[in-house]
Amino acid sequence: MPTLIINGKEIAHSIKKQMTTRINYFKTNHHINPNVATIKIGQDPSSDLYLKLRNKACKEVGITTTEIDFEASISQEEVVQTLIDLNHNNAIHGILIQYPVPQHIHQFQLMNTISPQKDIEGLHPHNLGQTLLGNEYLVPCTPLAVIKILEHEAIDLTGKNVTIINHSNVVGKPLAVMCLNRNATVNVCNIFTKDITPFTKKADVLIPATGIPGLITKNHIKKNSIIIDVGIAATKDGIKGDVNRTSVDNIAAKLTPVPGGVGPVTIASSIINMVQILEHNTKNQ
Ligand SMILES: NC(=O)c1ccc[n+]([C@@H]2O[C@H](COP(=O)([O-])OP(=O)(O)OC[C@H]3O[C@@H](n4cnc5c(N)ncnc54)[C@H](OP(=O)(O)O)[C@@H]3O)[C@@H](O)[C@H]2O)c1
Repeated sequence: MPTLIINGKEIAHSIKKQMTTRINYFKTNHHINPNVATIKIGQDPSSDLYLKLRNKACKEVGITTTEIDFEASISQEEVVQTLIDLNHNNAIHGILIQYPVPQHIHQFQLMNTISPQKDIEGLHPHNLGQTLLGNEYLVPCTPLAVIKILEHEAIDLTGKNVTIINHSNVVGKPLAVMCLNRNATVNVCNIFTKDITPFTKKADVLIPATGIPGLITKNHIKKNSIIIDVGIAATKDGIKGDVNRTSVDNIAAKLTPVPGGVGPVTIASSIINMVQILEHNTKNQ
């Protein structure tokens, strides 16, 4: 059977539609004007594009964005002070820092400074700790996107073998925890894994996120597996994922394409986090 290509754009559209209804509810009933502050330090073409897409998505669902652009030479102290001011600003509901940041900026201090209640990236140690304890509230957006795609496809992770090829703080580690929270058996590979094949071959759900175009071929996968391709690489032939789509066709049951798979759902997932914040704030009013 030909591999079914999962349409991430459609899933993102449906999430944004649901979130718009909820945002309109907060606007009408609680007179809130949802506002996300985005902090960008210096220039980075791919993250600039990501931020542009995210701001566009916010606009679509009725969230205002307050963009703060710093020169690459800004000091750590100035960025930290800006975050403290935003934490105290009641008109700002969410704060997002666009990574990567210049080398002289300590990103862990920035992650720690954002109020956990305004952390729409779910990267504050408090929120990551809650996720680890199985009490998911604000969770990192790409792992959330993977979970939303699996939910959309009605794939229950209970008892499934999941293999993730990535152990970064933003993708692999929180995603592994979120799969464990859903009772999967999880393998996490990284650059030191001697041979990924034994792990990929037993995966009912395979989630590569290396940024190496075409790394995963038919030789790596199990028949009828689900592949959620997180990797993104700019090649001379355009944007490519980690999966060689032609090679896995007819073997994998379902596959997310790149582009048009996890990417749009990741952007929609940051809006889910924003709605979580608004819900939390209105409950405490
Ligand atoms: N679709 C989306 O919305 C979205 C969102 C975020 C990221 N991404 C993409 O996802 C990829 C990962 O992002 P990231 O921020 O997590 O980047 P990263 O920190 O560079 O992560 C890459 C991961 O892949 C592992 N890796 C690399 N080559 C490998 C190999 N040959 N075998 C096994 N593991 C290998 C690395 O292991 P080591 O750490 O040991 O080197 C690392 O854990 C990138 O392509 C990025 O563009 C996509």
